Amino acid sequence: MKNKFNIILLPGDGIGQEISSQAKKILNWIDSKTKINFEVSEDLIGGASYDKYQTPLEDKTLANLKKADAIILGAVGGPKWENLPFEKRPERGLLKIRKELDLFANFRPAIVFDSLIDSSTLKPEVIKNLDLLIIRELTSGIYFGEPRGIQKINNEQMKGFNTLVYKTNEIERIAKVAFEAAISRNKKLCSVDKANVLESTELWREVVTKTSKKYPEVELTHMYVDNASMQLVRNPKQFDVIVTTNMFGDILSDCASMLTGSLGMLPSASIGISNKSKKSAMYEPVHGSGPDISGKNIANPLAMILSVAMMLEYSFSEKKLSNIIHKSVSAILDKGYRTKDIMDKNSKEVSTDDMGDLVLKELENEKI
Ligand code: IPM
Ligand code: MG
Repeated sequence: MKNKFNIILLPGDGIGQEISSQAKKILNWIDSKTKINFEVSEDLIGGASYDKYQTPLEDKTLANLKKADAIILGAVGGPKWENLPFEKRPERGLLKIRKELDLFANFRPAIVFDSLIDSSTLKPEVIKNLDLLIIRELTSGIYFGEPRGIQKINNEQMKGFNTLVYKTNEIERIAKVAFEAAISRNKKLCSVDKANVLESTELWREVVTKTSKKYPEVELTHMYVDNASMQLVRNPKQFDVIVTTNMFGDILSDCASMLTGSLGMLPSASIGISNKSKKSAMYEPVHGSGPDISGKNIANPLAMILSVAMMLEYSFSEKKLSNIIHKSVSAILDKGYRTKDIMDKNSKEVSTDDMGDLVLKELENEKI
């Protein structure tokens, strides 16, 4: 008997299309070579959806996403849609999925592949064997707080405003996820806030500390976000799991990605852990839609392929298969194949498409 799962692929905009084609190769391989059966359907999000339906996410699509076993998303956004009213912008489609599916726990691992050590702008000894996990709260904080808007104050002045708000239960549930993750790793958790200035994160610190009492085996530290960003580039290996707010997590994860050499290498998982039996989950690269490189077949598909690996582990408990994909990516890098973003003078430059094929070929040599 095969295990049947319904996957929705949302390629989105820009390089989202190109990298999604590579994800499909991997999904097909899993489908044909393992006991897992993926039924993959595709739908529109972001600018691609706006162009066709004048909305970045159709209600019908959202309803289907709620029923899916997992969602894989490429990227959204681009200059073409930048001047649209706020509610019509591609990013709103993504934020709507996060909120509507309650995908509050965002896992963003930053792992340095040995053969990419020289692609990072940091010294090899600072990043060698780096394996850190940022857990970003994804459905609250300043991204969603009310009131928000742009208003007229008088004839000369306008005001733009957003609200940073966190409730006890929102902090508690992300803290629990982070402590559990820390337990499965090295039992070290750093909570990042700005408790010296912002009350909402003073509460964050209080609730995380209180939650820590249930996890005595985890060593908990707290750090202000300005210091954390500095420590991330100074000595990233001091961290194992970081838990932080929506906005700080957005910023710190881009920063962490450059430790690994390229934003093109970072996958992510966004999980909603509901009480019902079905948990929602979406997998996407951390990088954006790369409008400057889109359509050129030069984007790095590895963050996308590694997002598929995360899906296997987080949604389908297929850790072994997930590791096989990791191993294959690593092997291709060891053989010196690189997309433009991670290219160095001793390597062989390959296209997006070639990179997908190379990983696939490597997978085909694997015994499963
Ligand atoms: C990310 C992105 C998104 C965010 C954008 C595209 C809305 O930067 O996933 O990190 O800000 O969360
Ligand atoms: Mg971001």
